[in-house]
Amino acid sequence: DLSGLERVRQELVDPPFAPEHEQVASGPPKIVEIEMVTHERLMTIDEDTGASIWALTYNGSVPGPLIIVHQDDYVELTLRNPVESAMEHNIDFHASTGALGGGGLTHIYPGEETVLRWKATKTGCFTYHCAPGGAMIPYHVCHGMNGAIMVLPRDGLKDAEGNPLRYDSIAYFGEQDYYLPRDENGDFKLYDTAGDDYADSLEAMATLVPTHQVFNGAVGALTGANALKAQVGQTVLMVHNSCNVDSRPHLIGGHGNFVWETSFTDPPLTGVETWFVRGGCAAAAMYTFEQPGVYAYVNHNLIIAALKGATAHFVVEGPWDNDLMEQVVAPRPFEG
Ligand code: CU
Repeated sequence: DLSGLERVRQELVDPPFAPEHEQVASGPPKIVEIEMVTHERLMTIDEDTGASIWALTYNGSVPGPLIIVHQDDYVELTLRNPVESAMEHNIDFHASTGALGGGGLTHIYPGEETVLRWKATKTGCFTYHCAPGGAMIPYHVCHGMNGAIMVLPRDGLKDAEGNPLRYDSIAYFGEQDYYLPRDENGDFKLYDTAGDDYADSLEAMATLVPTHQVFNGAVGALTGANALKAQVGQTVLMVHNSCNVDSRPHLIGGHGNFVWETSFTDPPLTGVETWFVRGGCAAAAMYTFEQPGVYAYVNHNLIIAALKGATAHFVVEGPWDNDLMEQVVAPRPFEG
């Protein structure tokens, strides 16, 4: 009987942003209502080559929206599949318990909706993804159908000594591996509707070599004009979802001051140069910026970062700390 619990609605937002939330829960556990629509859409994933994919998404974005609740809250998801969809979808929450993570209870065909409620008993960041069955599972996941939920301890994040840790903002990264089919000339093939690439995609996926491995859906989705912004002194919590492939995030010029690769209930790792996101996982890293400038946030398999697309940028403003770093001699010719 959950009739005594307060119901709140969480408005989900597009990545890399996080929904409005409390870091420390006020009051007892709640029922958190969310809504997601399975949206199949043609997405350009590399402007330079025109590479595109009929992405399978939750709410239209790759990754799907970040959900944030507290331990012992109930997540009540209404999942809708629009009538114009080509495919069946569902959702497996790694944070949930039972029925294939809810996957067994949420199969919906075009024109159907379902409501699933589950209790968030485990803390940490967790991936969620579509899992219709068989080869359709990696097909949907590798077409963008995955995202993350963060389950905070009710009293918030803490260091190993139990001191509170708070952040000013969240940056939500979804690492996505794509396997785009090519034609006889080596050009990426184009398709008319979602699902048309199925047979070709299975062949490309079977190589296990992604053609693209990007943050937030596309090459450059978080660089240049789309770079993340911060100020010196601000603390950012970087939530990194990687549903299918292992990743090793590294903030070039900074660190992971506190890193939770698994549960928030375990003490965080500290002073980490490069952390690990197991494929099929989401993880969180906290950093307080100490210098202005451009920081690249990359998968430190640098081939993947530079050639496959897994690079994002933070542009940080504020005063330079000459004690932390100084250019003692600018580059100059030398003799002898
Ligand atoms: Cu799906």
